[in-house]
Amino acid sequence: MLIFLLGAHILAAVFWVGGMAFAYTILRPAAGAIEPPVRLILWRDVFKRFLPWVALAIVALLASGYGMMFLTFGGFHKAPLFVHVMQGTGVAMMLIYLHLYFAPWRRMQVAVQDAQWPLAGRQLASIRKLVAINLVLGIVTVLVGSTGRYW
Ligand code: HEM
Repeated sequence: MLIFLLGAHILAAVFWVGGMAFAYTILRPAAGAIEPPVRLILWRDVFKRFLPWVALAIVALLASGYGMMFLTFGGFHKAPLFVHVMQGTGVAMMLIYLHLYFAPWRRMQVAVQDAQWPLAGRQLASIRKLVAINLVLGIVTVLVGSTGRYW
């Protein structure tokens, strides 16, 4: 059971953080030269596919994370400090994801649909900032989660 939970936890973390790293460091500069309407449609289609998978990764991270918290450590209050830090930064990432999904992402979809390119561009700029924050938090969370048992 523990192996299954840890496997799901790691796969979900790798997918989420790796996906953000690819979008931010590879796709963003590569797409920068494309004309705004085409570029905004591209990003709309990218997020349309990526964000539902992130939602699934979040469900998997929460279920496996709290499952392990009880199976490995016997509960909330007995878990070591690093697990609490991981939980804190992890929940912060999830709140940022929810904000991204229900605010700029919703507005960007409508703006692209209505061909309002400057408005869509502003929403994409907000999404970029939120992804940058979550990428940094994600790297910290992975480092804390994977090295924590040694400190
Ligand atoms: C939000 C609630 C979360 C809880 C309650 C939680 C809980 C846990 C627990 C109990 C472990 C096992 C620790 C051990 O046995 O040594 C673990 C490992 C880990 N977690 Fe989380 N976690 C959460 C979120 C996250 C997030 C958001 C990420 C990354 C995006 C993440 C990345 C990791 C990594 C990389 C490991 C190490 C796996 C290994 O190398 O053994 N966790 N987590």
